[in-house]
Amino acid sequence: MGRRVASAATDLDRFDLYERAVQDPARDVRVLRRWFRRLQGRPARDLREDFCGTAALCAAWVRAVPDGTAEGIDLCPQALAAGRARHRSALPPAARARIRLRRGDVRRVRRGPVDLTCALNFSYCALHERRDLLAYVRRVRRGLRPGGLFVLDVLGGPDAMREGVERYDHGTFAHEWEIERFCALTHRMRAAIHFELAGGRRLHRAFTYDWRLWTVPELCDVLHEAGFARVHRLWERTGRDGAFNGVLYEPKGPVPNEDLWWTYLLAERP
Ligand SMILES: C[S@@+](CC[C@H](N)C(=O)[O-])C[C@H]1O[C@@H](n2cnc3c(N)ncnc32)[C@H](O)[C@@H]1O
Repeated sequence: MGRRVASAATDLDRFDLYERAVQDPARDVRVLRRWFRRLQGRPARDLREDFCGTAALCAAWVRAVPDGTAEGIDLCPQALAAGRARHRSALPPAARARIRLRRGDVRRVRRGPVDLTCALNFSYCALHERRDLLAYVRRVRRGLRPGGLFVLDVLGGPDAMREGVERYDHGTFAHEWEIERFCALTHRMRAAIHFELAGGRRLHRAFTYDWRLWTVPELCDVLHEAGFARVHRLWERTGRDGAFNGVLYEPKGPVPNEDLWWTYLLAERP
């Protein structure tokens, strides 16, 4: 969420649009709780959300999990301010007491221990060098309880590497995901989210990204090297019509490289 804009009101608009366009925190919470229980045989209680942005996931977590705590960490003061205004203040007091948002660099925080740490919406792609990613992942591992999970999502498929614009309609507004530049040799990419509102008003490059698109095998190597015992690579089932149907599973064999896909990796701390 790299761009400064002039007024707080504009910030609230673009964060609100972002959340409605690309986030589904209630779904994420359901997936996280289900898989944690399945793998660890107990419920997860304490969550850390790295690269939290407006911390929509933290807020959904403390709403859904009795006695659950959530700590969100992000560098961007505007995103954190939007999170406090939009999410934290809307929580019932008992849940509000269990959420903390902190400004900081996830590569330097020393916190925990928690049951789950998440880095969602491909945020770790802001770390371009393997040694930086490894140092970050080691720090995540140290901040987890034994049996804790680190959850990250991955974007892939040929369309994830192709320059161009994809448009997504949301009824009252649309968003566009533009890959402005993609280097085949380094996987460094520049991308942007644009919004178009009713009446034709555009928020051009409302969010911009300077990423390295990491692949699943690269991430698995880093996770193992950082001391995670097992990495579960999830995939989403497709229905008879070929559309993804929202059911995640751990495939035993090869899966097809769809044009564009995203999925979760779950790394277990021994
Ligand atoms: C793509 S947004 C993700 C927001 C949210 N987690 C989501 O799922 O949509 C990436 C966020 O990472 C933050 N960020 C980038 N580098 C960071 C770092 N080293 N430490 C903490 N936050 C960072 C940015 O400020 C931005 O809010």
